[in-house]
Amino acid sequence: MPANDEQNTKPVILTCAQPTGKLTLGNYLGAVRNWSEMLEQNDCYFGIVDLHAITTPSHPATLRQNVYDCVAQYIACGLDPKKCHQFVQSHVIGHTELAWILTCITPIGELQRMTQFKDKVAKLGFKSTESTDEDLKFTHDGARPQASINAGLLCYPVLMAADILLYNADLVPVGEDQRQHLELCRDLAQRFNHQYSETFSIPKGFVPKTGAKIMSLADPRRKMSKSDKNERATLYILDEPNQIKKKISAAVTDSGSEIKAGPDKHGIANLLSIHSSLSGQSTDELEEYFQGKGYGVLKSELTELISENLHPVRDKYKELIKEKAYLKNVLAQGASTAQKRANKILSKVYRKVGFPDRERIT
Ligand code: AMP
Ligand code: TRP
Repeated sequence: MPANDEQNTKPVILTCAQPTGKLTLGNYLGAVRNWSEMLEQNDCYFGIVDLHAITTPSHPATLRQNVYDCVAQYIACGLDPKKCHQFVQSHVIGHTELAWILTCITPIGELQRMTQFKDKVAKLGFKSTESTDEDLKFTHDGARPQASINAGLLCYPVLMAADILLYNADLVPVGEDQRQHLELCRDLAQRFNHQYSETFSIPKGFVPKTGAKIMSLADPRRKMSKSDKNERATLYILDEPNQIKKKISAAVTDSGSEIKAGPDKHGIANLLSIHSSLSGQSTDELEEYFQGKGYGVLKSELTELISENLHPVRDKYKELIKEKAYLKNVLAQGASTAQKRANKILSKVYRKVGFPDRERIT
């Protein structure tokens, strides 16, 4: 693990992802792969945010297993634990404590205006504000049905702000969909500094140029997502070559036959963007290369390219997931370093807010 003492002047990078199952090609290209390129120049913290995960229905055993799956996939994607700190959010005391303090300087209206929150409310429809005990029971297949909007979904962006500010992070790599949440985090940091005195650095976002938003293969107007019910919509980094082939062959394309990423060509634009992220060629170069060739050629070359790139990741994951003790150790070391940093910032915040010192029993 990198030393994390006062002398460490490398910029602090922090980012987190929910342990909600297998990572998608979107997570890989829009997030994890970019993180792995930042390890040398920065002091990197990667959180697996299980406290966030319970805002939507999840079965306890599945959630626990997902955390190990997640860290094994991270390492397989290149997040070398010797060069960064990977931790589970619930292992570090301070996330919810700081979130509460920030909640008390957050106007409810700002949370209600968050796009992601509004989308979730819209999905749940009219039943969104009330729940019965029935809603909270587990169903026979293990998942808790979500029939209402819980307060956690509303407060989620404040917990995310706490995740970032607890480490005084300089840089936060996120996908396009998280920009608004990051903006709220910056506002809250500024508000706190203004209200109490300079405490937090104002974190900057980092959105990669390519792969920032990989779209669904079934509906290229929507983001590729872990939770899509349509099996063909999402490519997972652990998919076997035959699944990759099936999904890419079935990917929705647009009318016409020209391989050009125009405004009404969402399907082709998405496939070219995936190609570009993996091959490093620009969209212009790819359009020129594929000129006169049909969709079939693009799809078969893309299948090849994805399979080649994901093959080593899949192999490494299969080895790692058998090594539970190793994974637990990585998370224990990560949490220990994260806790040290979090303690410093949290005690500073407590002092600024006016909480009395905790006296030691003598
Ligand atoms: P999530 O899957 O929502 O926990 O997101 C984990 C990270 O992956 C975040 O930085 C997201 O912004 C990023 N991400 C998720 N889906 C995509 C996607 N389809 N394209 C690009 N980045 C994504
Ligand atoms: N909300 C983020 C997502 O759904 C995950 C997240 C939680 C996060 N805390 C964070 C991302 C802190 C960056 C920094 O993708």
